[in-house]
Amino acid sequence: MNRLETRIGNLVLKNPVLTASGTFGYGLEYDDFFDVAELGGICTKGLSLEPRAGNAPERICETPASMLNAIGLANVGVEAFCRDKLPVLRERNVTVVANIFASSTDDFVKIAERLDAESGVHALELNVSCPNVSHGGIEFGKDPKLAAQVTSAVRKASRLPVWVKMSPEAGDIVAVAKACEDAGADALTAINTIRGMSIDVDAERQRLANRTGGFSGPALRPIALRIVWDLCGAVSIPVIGIGGISTTRDALEFLLAGARAIQVGTASFADPCAARKVLSGIDAHCEKLGITASELVGRARR
Ligand SMILES: Cc1cc2nc3c(=O)[nH]c(=O)nc-3n(C[C@H](O)[C@H](O)[C@H](O)COP(=O)(O)O)c2cc1C
Repeated sequence: MNRLETRIGNLVLKNPVLTASGTFGYGLEYDDFFDVAELGGICTKGLSLEPRAGNAPERICETPASMLNAIGLANVGVEAFCRDKLPVLRERNVTVVANIFASSTDDFVKIAERLDAESGVHALELNVSCPNVSHGGIEFGKDPKLAAQVTSAVRKASRLPVWVKMSPEAGDIVAVAKACEDAGADALTAINTIRGMSIDVDAERQRLANRTGGFSGPALRPIALRIVWDLCGAVSIPVIGIGGISTTRDALEFLLAGARAIQVGTASFADPCAARKVLSGIDAHCEKLGITASELVGRARR
């Protein structure tokens, strides 16, 4: 067995390193840098039923050790994804996690059914936690009942593993996580961004046209790690850690806390090869300790 092989429910990944939705396009944009099929998987930009232009600019700005984005879920739509992107990903043997987003449970189901009809999609990641859109998004992820309703509807509509992406803005994130587990989620991914804002002092106005944006990057990591630790102690399904992971040691913190796998997000903007470097580093670390990646999971909890 490959020492990095990772099991998320019934899905076997080559390794525990994925890229986070919205920070890696549809996977192929990074083709010039390395073979993305080497990764455990890529999470696509959030896909909606219809194409979306997203919010007006400015949509991103830098802040110390982090960034703010208010992209507003701009994407090509599920149909164009299946027609133009998926065939190439399939041919290249990339493990694809389709991140999906809708403002109603019915639309979540329609997108899931459309993706279910295709080969080459390995799991669905439900974005019930986007802070940058006026309808849907975070409202689902803050409320255990709504999050469970979406999870269970998608679970029934699709044969694919269902991962639910947790919002750090949920008042009681553990209650949301347990509700999603009870509703049939195969895994939880944590965390999405937290709303923040920035003001340009010279222009005396907010930097993002949307005023607020999702805060991501290294500054988010301690918060993400604390949440992942709490979730791993509260649910039996796998938890996948996300938030400020830029280096191997960042990723190891999440695995040691109990995350079964991790996603690299904002770090790919600064270094397009970040995920690949994290992967090589985990491999070297496991070789040094003479253990598998799965054996690393949760060791800080002993
Ligand atoms: C520019 C940008 C776009 C994002 N778009 C999505 C998205 O479409 N769907 C989603 O679930 N998360 C989205 N996210 C959240 C990331 O997947 C991730 O959860 C978050 O950025 C924290 O990880 P990081 O600090 O490693 O970036 C986006 C993040 C950024 C920075």
